Amino acid sequence: MSIQNSLFMDSSLVKLLGSENYFSNHVGYVYSISFTEAYVLTNDAWKAKVNGIPHNSFLIAASFNPEMFSEINEFDKEVVLLRVLGPAPLPSESEIIKTKIEHSQNITKQEFENDIYDGFDPITKNEIQFGALKCRILGTFYEEDGELRLGSDLENYMSSARLKVYKPRGEALEMIVNHINPEIRKKSLEEAKKVGFKGLPTPIDIGTVRYTSTARLHRSNKEKLVPVRIQPSDFLARRTAVFGMTRTGKSNTIKTTVSAVALAAMKDGIKVGQIIFDINGEYANANHQDDGSSIADVFNEECIRYRAIETEGFEDLRLNFYYNPSEALALIQSLYNNEKKSPYSGQDLDTFMNTTLEEPDKENISQYYRWRILRSVFLSILYEAGYKVPNNFKIEIPVSNNLISQIKEVIEDVEIPKNLNDAKKGFLNVTPIEAVRWFLIIREANMSLKQMQKGEKKAQLGLKSNKGNSIVDATLEAFLNMLARKNSKDQQFGGYRAIVNYTVYHSNKRKNEVVNEIIKHLYNGKIVILDLSAGPVEVRNVLSEKIATGIFNYAFNIMNSGKTPQNIVIYIEEAHNLIGKKEELTHIWPRIAKEGAKAKIALVYSTQEPSSIHPNILANTENWFVTHLNNEDELKTLGKFYDFSDFHDSLKVAQDVGFARIKSLSSPFVIPTQINKFDPNKIKSKINKIKGRLL
Ligand SMILES: Nc1ncnc2c1ncn2[C@@H]1O[C@H](COP(=O)(O)OP(=O)(O)O)[C@@H](O)[C@H]1O
Ligand SMILES: [Mg+2]
Repeated sequence: MSIQNSLFMDSSLVKLLGSENYFSNHVGYVYSISFTEAYVLTNDAWKAKVNGIPHNSFLIAASFNPEMFSEINEFDKEVVLLRVLGPAPLPSESEIIKTKIEHSQNITKQEFENDIYDGFDPITKNEIQFGALKCRILGTFYEEDGELRLGSDLENYMSSARLKVYKPRGEALEMIVNHINPEIRKKSLEEAKKVGFKGLPTPIDIGTVRYTSTARLHRSNKEKLVPVRIQPSDFLARRTAVFGMTRTGKSNTIKTTVSAVALAAMKDGIKVGQIIFDINGEYANANHQDDGSSIADVFNEECIRYRAIETEGFEDLRLNFYYNPSEALALIQSLYNNEKKSPYSGQDLDTFMNTTLEEPDKENISQYYRWRILRSVFLSILYEAGYKVPNNFKIEIPVSNNLISQIKEVIEDVEIPKNLNDAKKGFLNVTPIEAVRWFLIIREANMSLKQMQKGEKKAQLGLKSNKGNSIVDATLEAFLNMLARKNSKDQQFGGYRAIVNYTVYHSNKRKNEVVNEIIKHLYNGKIVILDLSAGPVEVRNVLSEKIATGIFNYAFNIMNSGKTPQNIVIYIEEAHNLIGKKEELTHIWPRIAKEGAKAKIALVYSTQEPSSIHPNILANTENWFVTHLNNEDELKTLGKFYDFSDFHDSLKVAQDVGFARIKSLSSPFVIPTQINKFDPNKIKSKINKIKGRLL
């Protein structure tokens, strides 16, 4: 350390001024101050020295001399943080303007041609190069127990104090934009430890400080670009909004975030599950738009993609109707109801379209017995309607002695199912073809019995259970008729033909239930991408909601059992469609937004219409990323929050891609930031580095 350097105390406050470079960062003096605003006298020469003072840039003011920090009064040991709001008039303003105008009026042709027309005399030049800036007071840095703290206001000001103003650059600016108060850091550490982090999680590198659209000076190669970081604890189990017009970099922000969270988790050996509801298929696919590479390419092993259509490299998002008959029937019903005009009709079809296959209580033996039969008839209907069966799929059919003897009564040479000895408790597993055949027999027997009972003037119960109740109730009868394509009067009708068009919604490949499979991936710390750009739209809606509900319930069950659930991050785009103003707060998406954080579910939502988001959710959003918004309504909504109103003009004018104003939970003010471009190669190399270290 040189002798000169040793003059500078190792104090954070001194560092904020730029330590030994403080003199070259000096840009003026505060000449008027209140609790909320400060007016700064500056000068063109000083501005030139620091590569300019852009609109919305940070300035700092301090009264102490950093070379004599150890000797200063306790009172002066603080640094006031300012933001440049705009110009302010000096008392001599009108004089100066007059001088400038007169001077311009008197320029001779000769002076103009010889390029000497701005030649003010030195005294005048000195006078007119002074100007003033109006600044907002963002807070006060001071030291407490040896640590740097930021209070978000000004506690006291001295009218006589000569506050010198500096432009923070490089390291000093980095300290400012990434500052976290010690108590918040302590709390974050506690939170992190609860979910298994060993220390404070690695911060997320999101971008670099950018003040204005024109970035010729303040981001030139002479200025160090200053990184802006987000604390994972701000982000995990919180709500984050990404607002901005189309193609201003919302998706890119999400890609950068997904990667950063994945990298931080990898580095810290923690599992954070992330799921993207990818409406446009831009996260799942390579070569989408002009992006070259997608999240899925970069994180290939840690990433699982789903689609509601058969595609190589994608898991099938669709239901296997044979394994999820209840959901399948509900889906068929919603598809049927959405059809403008189905050519099929009939009493039996109506019954079929209004029946639920939800599993009843097992305690209710007769109801449960009938449900098992109904389910099997439904599966047989699927088979007849051309829904591809999974390999070796079996359907259970009722074969109790009581039933068979009743059937034999009315159909003499009935062909009894083979392997009857394998039956368990009255049911036998058979192939779909055999099941269809058996149910048609049951239908026929039931009708004949009813006919007989009618002749004998008895109650027309058809096939009877041991207790003497009718087995084939009205619903089952309708289902059997659907299978036979004949109604109870034996007249032909469309029957199962009504559902043959919906086979595209079914996947015979899927073995497990998709929701649980996805939850498992998330709890293994994977990135799940639901590519909703392809496949039938009803499937996407039905399944998105089902998956969201599944994740929500799963996390809450863990929490309610007294444990801490693992961190999950959910990303949704076009969020106004899901958590809009008109949405009931009891609906799943608003619930995730409102309550998810309690069970460690973070929600990141993006839209170009912040004003359409439910106000309650907006008010509970902890982190904000805002790029260009083109109209007053949206800006007005935004301006109600934090200090976003300072950025009103800039947000409306600057259309630069990725130029965001960020308010994060642990920072008390907005930081204007250029978001990093999602860089697949850079991320890949980081992944390899981390993996290499872990090996
Ligand atoms: N921070 C950024 N830096 C450079 N290019 C970006 C940045 N953000 C986005 N882009 C590019 O701009 C285009 C639109 O970005 P995108 O994220 O898809 O916008 P949005 O989701 O808001 O419609 C893409 O080609 C993307 O690669
Ligand atoms: Mg987008």
